[in-house]
Amino acid sequence: MTERLNLSHAVIKYGEIRAIDDVSLTVSAGEFVFITGANGSGKSTLTKGIAGLLPLASGTITRTKRMSYVPQIEEADRNFPARVSEIVLTGTQGQGGFFYSIADKRRALRSMEELGIRNLAKSEICTLSGGQLRRVFLARALCGEPELLLLDEPCAGLDASSHKLLFSVLDRVRAGGCAVIMVTHDASDLEGIKADRVITLSHGRILE
Ligand SMILES: Nc1ncnc2c1ncn2[C@@H]1O[C@H](COP(=O)(O)OP(=O)(O)OP(=O)(O)O)[C@@H](O)[C@H]1O
Ligand SMILES: [Mg+2]
Repeated sequence: MTERLNLSHAVIKYGEIRAIDDVSLTVSAGEFVFITGANGSGKSTLTKGIAGLLPLASGTITRTKRMSYVPQIEEADRNFPARVSEIVLTGTQGQGGFFYSIADKRRALRSMEELGIRNLAKSEICTLSGGQLRRVFLARALCGEPELLLLDEPCAGLDASSHKLLFSVLDRVRAGGCAVIMVTHDASDLEGIKADRVITLSHGRILE
């Protein structure tokens, strides 16, 4: 099977603290991997390492370039003067460069339609609710047509219908061969989707 991610003996440090300590993980096309663990166990650090936002102190990583990352909502800066459609369009940058093609704009529209936020296209992001903002970031991630989708706590604060929508969208991208890595500290998020693997982190290590 086509490999989307190969992480081998990864270590990620904050100063002298090893927040990720010897983690290895291989994810193939179409696979769905859940990462769970208590607050502070290293889940966000691991996803940032995979996304390339934090360097590995040691170990190696190879992954597809077609990756989309949706950060934990608490880390998102929403006090930024941008409209929903502009944010979603930036998800296409990997393909379109600085100027957006008509195809990019179509992809962005399709993503907004799929996430039910087309009517918000012209809204400033600072005016959105938490759940709406989450849909915007997911639409942004999808319109890059990723081969690897990294989601950090995408379910926190979602109502039942948003939750259902998220999982139906994930089923669709997965059927198209996209690998999904989804982080959650809440094991009940695992209901409603068939994960290929569930990985539990504790103090930066994978529990066997
Ligand atoms: N920027 C930072 N500088 C120093 N230490 C950090 C930093 N970010 C995280 N840490 C520490 O690294 C460890 C892992 O944090 P991380 O955010 O990856 O945990 P998490 O599993 O995502 O937690 P949560 O469930 O609360 O989101 C924690 O001990 C945390 O205090
Ligand atoms: Mg986190």
